[in-house]
Amino acid sequence: KRSLVLSAPGKVILHGEHAVVHGKVALATALDLRTFLRMTPRQDGKISLQLPNLGSQLSWEAAELRPLLAAFSVELPEAQPPSAEQVEKLKEFAGGDYGHEAVQSVAAAAFLYLYLSVASKYGVLPTVDILVWSELPTGAGLGSSAAYSVCLAGALLFGCGAISYPLQEGQETARWTKEELDVINRLAFRGEQVIHGNPSGVDNAVSTWGGALRYISGQISVLKSVPTLRILLTNTKVPRSTKILVAGVKAKLLEFPTIMEPMLATIDAISRECEGILEAMTKDPSQEHYSRLEDLVDINQHLLNGIGVGHALLDRVCQVTSSHGLHSKLTGAGGGGCAITLLRPGRFRRGREALIPTY
Ligand code: MEV
Repeated sequence: KRSLVLSAPGKVILHGEHAVVHGKVALATALDLRTFLRMTPRQDGKISLQLPNLGSQLSWEAAELRPLLAAFSVELPEAQPPSAEQVEKLKEFAGGDYGHEAVQSVAAAAFLYLYLSVASKYGVLPTVDILVWSELPTGAGLGSSAAYSVCLAGALLFGCGAISYPLQEGQETARWTKEELDVINRLAFRGEQVIHGNPSGVDNAVSTWGGALRYISGQISVLKSVPTLRILLTNTKVPRSTKILVAGVKAKLLEFPTIMEPMLATIDAISRECEGILEAMTKDPSQEHYSRLEDLVDINQHLLNGIGVGHALLDRVCQVTSSHGLHSKLTGAGGGGCAITLLRPGRFRRGREALIPTY
């Protein structure tokens, strides 16, 4: 039987990270760096998961997974989100020698959760080899976990016959229908919940739909007319955990609601203001709009520092680029990971030269 190969992109959040977890607007766009998955049917009753980027290779007997269906009572996708207890049990079961909190265990737990979800809903335990590899750095704020979840969701739903094989005779690549993408997105969100605890769903939405999106409380609007913005991406390579950073903001919100709520509301206002500017830019590409976009980048960076998700190296990127007249902010969960720098037309080289000698 033939293999299925599919891919999904990473993402960059322009504005709205963290606030989006609390029902505010985020603006995000897909990145030209992708995660790829190859699924090959196998006949020996085994399921294997190879993740070369994490150096991990795991396999299970289908007969070994069958009892887990009842034990974890995983259901799709209208049912409850994965409970902390289910996630812990799956990490323990899947992690093996890697240890409980290792990224390999978390990735394997997400796979098993999705696998058991589709298996319980469609009554099939497909025996397959799954290989996932990525151009995206892990844990850098570029949506590698979402792209992983989206690829798994697409492959497993296809493997259970829940969605079609979209490739027509003679085509090299194809996309699923809107309805199928919606099912993939909702399942991928469950994978993100296993990995991140309480994500907003913006990352898997961008990875599923591609393009530039506005996202608020599960509502996805594809932005049809957006100008081309040049953005420089700098990876501080400081490792961090989205789950811990998101939980940290929530803890502060509970402790200081009267301080934190207005800050999140201001981030929301920044996203909305930015949306208006982007729309105006499609009609009038004058440079004037750039200084307003740059102001918003600066204000948001200060707010993100204020809510506790900054890092000294992210500040350093902001300082270095600022000394060249450029404006930067963290993107994604912060605490390290990547920064974005807005580049005005004609200033691309300046931004690169500013950063290369520094890192
Ligand atoms: C992570 O890419 C974005 C956060 O807002 C978390 C989320 O939306 O789930 C920090």
